[in-house]
Amino acid sequence: WIAPTLAIVFGYLLGSIPFGVLLTRIAGAGDLRQIGSGNIGATNVLRTGRKGLAAATLLLDLLKGAAAVWIAETLWPGTGVLAAAGAFIGHCYPVWLGFRGGKGVATLMGIVLALHWPCGVVFAIVWLGLLATVRISSVAGMTAAISAPVSAALMDRFDVVLLLVVLALIVLWKHRENVERLLAGNEPRLGRKHG
Ligand code: G3P
Repeated sequence: WIAPTLAIVFGYLLGSIPFGVLLTRIAGAGDLRQIGSGNIGATNVLRTGRKGLAAATLLLDLLKGAAAVWIAETLWPGTGVLAAAGAFIGHCYPVWLGFRGGKGVATLMGIVLALHWPCGVVFAIVWLGLLATVRISSVAGMTAAISAPVSAALMDRFDVVLLLVVLALIVLWKHRENVERLLAGNEPRLGRKHG
């Protein structure tokens, strides 16, 4: 039980690094939690007007998810799924921010790419395709999250389907305010001011 526990704790600690908050603060662009939606993800960093910071947040939030899986698999073979769960929970519920973390999309993309890259490619295509057409980050993120367990099942990767179902449900739960705004017709499009 030592390796599984280490994988979960390591994943959680890596996932809980709030890159959006840190980069925005270091760049002198303010407290991300007081900006726009208050979310700590790349979409909200974009609302500061700093595209480079938003891209860096997206990349680092993605990489921490992937790195958790890769490093855990290297150190404790067979624990990738547990480290992935830890990293995702760390991002969404970081102890450092009073458990009020992000909505999980970028970190999930990294996790899916690391667990089974073809599913990660499907995730990225769905996400980018909707971002380019619909231009609403929450719609793109939620749809891509749902695509992950579906594509894993279609590709016979039943070893990761359960994890991906649970993580997709958490992504949807985390977007509940976005869903309310979508239903009310006032969810902002990419890069637009909030509310
Ligand atoms: O992944 C987060 C994104 O889908 C929504 O972010 O800031 O618009 O709530 P936000």
